[in-house]
Amino acid sequence: MGNTKHDGALQLSAEEMRALGYRVIDIILEHFESLRGKPVAHKVDKAKLKKRLLCPLPRKGTSVDIILQQLQRHVFNNIMHLDHPRFFAFIPGPSNFVSVMADALAAGFNVFGGTWLEASGPTEVELTTIEWIRKLCGLPNTAGGLFVSGGSIANLTALAVARHVELKNRIRGAVVYGSDQVHSSIERGLRLLGFHHTQFRKLPSDDGFRLSLPILRRKVADDQAAGKNPFCVVANAGTTNTGAVDPLLALSKFCRKQGLWLHVDGAYGAASMLCEKGKSLLRGMENADSLVLDPHKWLFQPYEIGCVLVRDSRQLRETFRILPEYLKDVDRSEEEVNFCDYGIQLTRSFRALKLWMSLKIFGLDAFRKAVSRGIELAELAEQTLRRLHRWEIVTHAQIGIVTFRYVSDTHSPSELDSINQQIVNEMIEDGFAMVSSTVLRGRTVLRMCTINPRTTPEDIRQTILRLNSLGSKRSHEEK
Ligand SMILES: Cc1ncc(COP(=O)(O)O)c(C=O)c1O
Repeated sequence: MGNTKHDGALQLSAEEMRALGYRVIDIILEHFESLRGKPVAHKVDKAKLKKRLLCPLPRKGTSVDIILQQLQRHVFNNIMHLDHPRFFAFIPGPSNFVSVMADALAAGFNVFGGTWLEASGPTEVELTTIEWIRKLCGLPNTAGGLFVSGGSIANLTALAVARHVELKNRIRGAVVYGSDQVHSSIERGLRLLGFHHTQFRKLPSDDGFRLSLPILRRKVADDQAAGKNPFCVVANAGTTNTGAVDPLLALSKFCRKQGLWLHVDGAYGAASMLCEKGKSLLRGMENADSLVLDPHKWLFQPYEIGCVLVRDSRQLRETFRILPEYLKDVDRSEEEVNFCDYGIQLTRSFRALKLWMSLKIFGLDAFRKAVSRGIELAELAEQTLRRLHRWEIVTHAQIGIVTFRYVSDTHSPSELDSINQQIVNEMIEDGFAMVSSTVLRGRTVLRMCTINPRTTPEDIRQTILRLNSLGSKRSHEEK
């Protein structure tokens, strides 16, 4: 494919399209096939990168060959591989090839997923996929929802519904409760919805980093006595820091009794209901008034796909629906669902396709095995660390996350903070694997999140051996 002369129709010939398509597929395939052998992280020199990529907006076209080469060398070579089998930092993104192809199809047909009139087939696929998730999460058949870009927007959407339903948007004096472990997207969502930060009670979590029901009960009573309006509790179904699950069943009973909206953030952990261990930990999740789950985390989808479910799906429509005159043609009958009435976006892509297609092609059993494997690998990481005497388990392996800390008698706690931080920094430099740090009760700890189904037990063991030798090295140097 050379420098084709284009006439302004922005169109390639069939031959050129085919050639480009095959090249792109080959590049993606090569990525999937060679990932394990590549470094997880890549060192970036900002000045060099800028020199290579910064250029004036080109007036004339460039050949596909040159652009693909440039992309491979300077763009895709400069990413951290969140889908790498030894990427254990933050929340990994272990995607799958079927869903990647589904995204290509959705883009290829440029599906407008906002209205039934413009996308009846895709709307039916989204309704079906949402229905699968609803059932798996145990919500009643009044519940429904939609796919959005990710957990942050899903949380914002759910909180907007809670505000609309419970407060009729009168937010003065209203109070929301959650533990000090809630994800930052909750606080950001509340801020965007007009709440002052003092209207969010960030309650100290218990020893297991869960929301404490006795503290919540006391705070709600205090606020009621002070004339405030408690209206919503945000519970975690798998915190980002440690994977901790709040006591969902007890919380749901309390919320029901008090007339409080229960929002469950299961962006990370709700997918673990696919296996028995997760299911028993998540008991009570089915009582949520709203629930968030991110298929682009533990349901192995490429970004961006998050899911928000509301116990009474009509409340989504009541919150978001506005019918301008230029959309009257799409407002036809009750049974023709227009997803633009259920969320923030009017123009929206066909996100459901990737989840639908991968569930259809691999089957639910394969997903169940993949999720169980993630849980077991974190348990293996914990056992391996326990055998090495320099490591303290800070929180035990729970739904795919374990936190731990390099310790030694010869260093002060703050020196150990610095050693643990340096271990992460050196891991980034080294590129073999990636773990991340966080702070729990004021101390720096390391965490591994092991949800990639292509990770092997040997990957876990080798990573921990590296961590161990980095720890010893750092510890000697700090003396
Ligand atoms: C518990 C939890 N909630 C919400 C989010 C935000 O999700 P996203 O990054 O998809 O916006 C995350 C992301 O890691 C998360 O772990």
